[in-house]
Amino acid sequence: MSSKLQFILIVCVVIWILESENHQKKQEEPESEVPNMPKIKSREDFIKEMEENWSAYFVHKIKPTLEQTMNIQGLHQQIIEQEEMIITYQKLLGAMEANLSVCEINNKAKEMIIDQMLSRVLLSDANKVKKSFKSNCIGKLTEIYEIEVPGIDSFLVPCDSTLAGSGWTVIQRRQDGSVNFNRNSAEYRQGFGNLDGEFFIGLEKLHLMTKSQKHELYIHLEDFENQHRFARYSEFLIADEATSYMLRILGEYSGNAGDWLTKHNNTIFSTADMDNECAMLHKSGWWYHNCSHCNLNGLYTTNKDQSGIKWNSISLKFVQMMIRPTEN
Ligand SMILES: *[C@@H]1O[C@H](CO)[C@@H](O)[C@H](O)[C@H]1NC(C)=O
Ligand SMILES: *[C@@H]1O[C@H](CO)[C@@H](O)[C@H](O)[C@H]1NC(C)=O
Ligand SMILES: *[C@@H]1O[C@H](CO)[C@@H](O)[C@H](O)[C@H]1NC(C)=O
Ligand SMILES: *[C@@H]1O[C@H](CO)[C@@H](O)[C@H](O)[C@H]1NC(C)=O
Repeated sequence: MSSKLQFILIVCVVIWILESENHQKKQEEPESEVPNMPKIKSREDFIKEMEENWSAYFVHKIKPTLEQTMNIQGLHQQIIEQEEMIITYQKLLGAMEANLSVCEINNKAKEMIIDQMLSRVLLSDANKVKKSFKSNCIGKLTEIYEIEVPGIDSFLVPCDSTLAGSGWTVIQRRQDGSVNFNRNSAEYRQGFGNLDGEFFIGLEKLHLMTKSQKHELYIHLEDFENQHRFARYSEFLIADEATSYMLRILGEYSGNAGDWLTKHNNTIFSTADMDNECAMLHKSGWWYHNCSHCNLNGLYTTNKDQSGIKWNSISLKFVQMMIRPTEN
């Protein structure tokens, strides 16, 4: 650029020298000889005009050119810089893509780990479900569980760990008279009622449970004076259907309610549809012996009625019969 300026300056100087010589020649000529000649400029005027021309030239020609050139150079520089940035970005992009594929691999690995963990959890859940398909309530909370007993499809039982320690399977409950216990032999065989309310588990299940493992029996009794009592028998077995689900109290009594069940030892289970007089009289199925010393399946009543739920002479408000294995 400076060479261009220098060149222009030199040109200007040359023009100025030539012009000034011309001017001197013209000055030498007599003025009168050339009529109507344009007024000859003084040296100062010439310089002034030239300066003006120059500054005009500079403003209108050189400056824009200069500016353009400078702009172009700036743009060029910008382009270079942008190209460098693009290259940098491309490198970054490449790195990010590489990272992304690493991430994808990591994610795949993570997914696989999660899958493995999930399947392990599912497996342990399946194990849990399977474990809960035990034959009894040992280790269970006071909830309803499905248990598996040889000789029958799995079935639901309430477990109880509130009345006499844990692990008891509830086989019968009376609490409000909401369920009719005057049923036929088929119903007593099958079981009836609501597992979270009043129910009888069923004689076939009772037989299979007590046959599969040695069980003890716990009877919880509450009377209308809110007296809580219990009768416990160290071994308890219900015979098969062919033996009319005979009651076998094989163990010893303990408790504070009195032993009113041993007297029923070796009695068969009778219902009204079997034309059993005791069953018809007491409106329930039971292991009758000269009718009963106790009948926990009797009519739910607050009367001092002979047909009520009885433990000897005590009329009962709440009863729960439970069994628990004595060995595993
Ligand atoms: C200045 O510019 C004008 C018009 O462009 C021209 O006629 C004149 O000769 C120039 N003067 C000088 C000193 O270059
Ligand atoms: C790529 O990953 C590494 C480590 O994981 C990290 O240090 C780097 O900044 C990442 N690069 C890009 C471009 O994300
Ligand atoms: C009940 O009867 C069985 C066999 O008939 C007998 O082994 C058991 O000792 C009896 N139980 C009681 C408490 O007498
Ligand atoms: C049966 O019970 C009645 C009263 O309920 C009694 O009189 C009778 O002696 C009892 N029989 C036997 C064999 O225990």
